[in-house]
Amino acid sequence: MTTGLASNLLQGKRVLITGGGTGLGKSMGQRFMELGADLVICGRRMRVLEDTASEFEKQFGRSVQILSCDVRSSEQVEEMFDSIWSRGPIDVLVNNAAGNFVAQTHRLSARAIDSILGICLHGGAYCTVAAGRRWIEAEKPGVVLSILTLSALMGAPFTVPSAMAKAGVEAMTKSLAVEWGPKNIRLVAVAPGSFPTEGATSRLRPATSTAPDHSGIPLRRPGKHSELANLCAFLVSDLASYITGETIIIDGGSRYLGGSRGGAMQMLQWSDDDWDRQRAAMPDQKKSG
Ligand code: HXC
Ligand code: NAP
Repeated sequence: MTTGLASNLLQGKRVLITGGGTGLGKSMGQRFMELGADLVICGRRMRVLEDTASEFEKQFGRSVQILSCDVRSSEQVEEMFDSIWSRGPIDVLVNNAAGNFVAQTHRLSARAIDSILGICLHGGAYCTVAAGRRWIEAEKPGVVLSILTLSALMGAPFTVPSAMAKAGVEAMTKSLAVEWGPKNIRLVAVAPGSFPTEGATSRLRPATSTAPDHSGIPLRRPGKHSELANLCAFLVSDLASYITGETIIIDGGSRYLGGSRGGAMQMLQWSDDDWDRQRAAMPDQKKSG
């Protein structure tokens, strides 16, 4: 693929991507390895991580470190970082792991709210502090890239805990860019619009819709994983060495049409029964292996 990025752009960089076994995390990992990076990925499902690692090992002839970790647990995050550091430091952390689903906010249980905030907000904070503390102690530079969502900046009906959590991560990005700037640690973020993945589509798209609706996107199509992965590769690379505290939006212009809100407009009309049917159509993560 011709992208203008040098094929050794990320040579010598060791990168941890949380939730790197699937979806956008997997696409970023693949692109980063193509550009020379050494990859570490984590998630809750070991089998998913093993499959991704073996696919990349075949493709690139280099090993991928995989670690089982629920980022909602600060203990598991610390254990993961100890295990990573026992082989050597990482240079880049990508906060990509997330949980989300559409639901009426007034019907959410406390556990449902805690689950999303736990993954996106607490998990992002635990991983960032675990990496930052180790970089600061070693007087080593580092980069934290957090994957947000357009709704962190604009709000989003029916995915309120996700929007709240990612808005918090954006605040962390701006705040730590200042606090850790003198230590040569950069924090950047991207806010993607629509980039179809199995994880997102199965939890966010109305179960009743037959075809994706791109009417809210001026460029009239969803994003390609390669477009996001190339932006992220640039941001974590030394080419972006003077960018910190910034969130880059990559959404085909949909924010200027109010975000790709076809789904939300439709959901505003739903009855409680419609919502029950939507919930029944969503995957059960624990059973999906
Ligand atoms: C209401 C729900 C629910 C739903 C789960 N819960 N799904 N409530 N509607 N659809 C409730 C459960 O009943 C439970 O509360 C609580 O949430 C925790 O659910 P568990 O299944 O026990 O949790 P867990 O197994 O840890 O799974 C976490 C999860 C799941 C977030 C619910 O969906 C998951 O693992 N997701 C990870 C992958 C993912 O979400 N990818 C999409 C990212 S896309 P009670 O009270 O009953 O115990 C993305 C795009 C951003 O982020 C753009 C947005 C516009
Ligand atoms: P995805 O494939 O479902 O990715 C989520 C990943 O997070 C999975 O690999 C999952 O693995 C991991 N994860 C979830 N809970 C975890 C936990 N508690 N601990 C550790 N890992 C956990 O969805 P995606 O679409 O690629 O999303 C990737 C990122 O892009 C997310 O931050 C999402 O918010 C953001 N985003 C996506 C879109 C989009 O259109 N796709 C738009 C805006 C933003 P396990 O289940 O094995 O743990």
